[in-house]
Amino acid sequence: MAQSIGCIVRFIENQTVQIAMSAPFLTAPHYRRIAEMLRLTLASGALRPGDRMISARKLAEREQVSLPTALEALRCLEAEGLIVARPRSGYFVSRIATQQEAPPSHALPGPVPVTLSAVARSLFSSAETRLVPLGAALPDPTWLPGTTLQRALHAAGRRLDAHGQSYSLPPGRADLRHNIAARAARWGARFAADDVIITAGATQALRLALHAVCQPGDVVAIEQPAYFGTLLLLEDLGLKALQIPTDPTEGLLLEPLADAVQRHRPAAVLASPTVQNPLGASMPVAKKQALVALAERAGIPLIEDDVYGDLVGEGQRPPACKAFDQSGNVIYCSSLSKTLAPGWRIGWIAAGRYHTKVLQARMAGEWAGAPLLEAATSEILASGDYERHLRRLKSRVAKGVKAVIARVEAGFPPGTRVAAPAAGFLLWVALPLGVNALEVHRRALALGIGVSPGPLFSPGAELQNYLRLNCANEPTPQLLSAVDRIGEICRELAGEGSRLTKKKLSIN
Ligand SMILES: Cc1ncc(COP(=O)(O)O)c(C=O)c1O
Repeated sequence: MAQSIGCIVRFIENQTVQIAMSAPFLTAPHYRRIAEMLRLTLASGALRPGDRMISARKLAEREQVSLPTALEALRCLEAEGLIVARPRSGYFVSRIATQQEAPPSHALPGPVPVTLSAVARSLFSSAETRLVPLGAALPDPTWLPGTTLQRALHAAGRRLDAHGQSYSLPPGRADLRHNIAARAARWGARFAADDVIITAGATQALRLALHAVCQPGDVVAIEQPAYFGTLLLLEDLGLKALQIPTDPTEGLLLEPLADAVQRHRPAAVLASPTVQNPLGASMPVAKKQALVALAERAGIPLIEDDVYGDLVGEGQRPPACKAFDQSGNVIYCSSLSKTLAPGWRIGWIAAGRYHTKVLQARMAGEWAGAPLLEAATSEILASGDYERHLRRLKSRVAKGVKAVIARVEAGFPPGTRVAAPAAGFLLWVALPLGVNALEVHRRALALGIGVSPGPLFSPGAELQNYLRLNCANEPTPQLLSAVDRIGEICRELAGEGSRLTKKKLSIN
């Protein structure tokens, strides 16, 4: 252990313990300092396996930190297997670490290469089959406004005549760019039609953004867990992932981010501050402001992925980070894939000070758009049809999420944890340790059910005991019984896991 420079007295519930503190300890971010303190307290023998840990709320109060920071500290210990969460009861000690065993918590995990494509390929190869759609993050096709889309296409076809079949040149149709900027202005975005470039979905926008600000070998700070499309882009562009702990409710944790930025100087921060995929987390407005300021101060561009933003709020959606961007440092990427028409591939980028570079890359690469689809989308945005459709979609999504959560709570094995997302339609489910999500995926697929296994959401296909469920479906008996079947598979695997562990113990 590093040189001891002091001693402080700490309490865990009713226990009082003296702990030696080291110099680097005192300068570590709060969550790591608190995790270290808890770890040392456990090593001192103050608590025994099975004892209840202090609650996150009490820990936050005692350490005068936010609840997410306290939770993150507890999660560090959970990741090391020192404590376990029990549903609705809190954290309990599972194992006592010795002082020597305590990991060097002063080093954040550094940048890692992304090696996900092989796993992704094997999982995507099943996507052609017609599955119960609990896997891909897509709204039920019957929830999309089919008649509105058809009507707008016909009207655009008449208006454009033969030009409808031609190319749309970068930066894309002016009327569509105008309508996108006008909608964004309502939540405070500071960009005009001329700052918008239409892209083939948000995926192309993200690729252009990364291309504009990174060189192969660079490091990009991302959320942990992260959307697999982002991870695959990093892999394809030869970029390394710097994973930043992300709270399931409040999104990216700024303290670890600031620490990581200082240590590793990433070329960009890429995040979904409004409805993160897969967690469903949304950063509070003040934290979005702080994130924009942090990136600006560090001189690092912030790439904001906002594909789910329109699904938030009863009326007006909350502002994206782009609303607080005064210097053009935020590269804003979005699309209508999650709300209107995934296959139309209408996305956009408002790249701030990187506009010219992005436009140039758009012209040099996949440059052509589809005028018919751009014109029809523009009309749907301008007519108010999109807002009417969104209201309906949001209420259906809320019902879908509620129905799936109820079935997960009723039918998944003990030790499963799931939290209702504040918005969006993705459910991130933590399965008991030892339940392998890739095996859940394999068995579910054999039954014609799609799920997204946790390994898809980390650079090296980790997060083995997590699943993401898509809840944007009509909660029909068929759909809900598919959720039950996934629960059964997880229970089987949890049983197999514990039998194996017992067998191992008896051999020893
Ligand atoms: C967070 C996130 N960003 C981007 C995308 C891709 O969007 P698009 O279909 O517009 O390319 C997705 C799709 O799942 C997503 O979840």
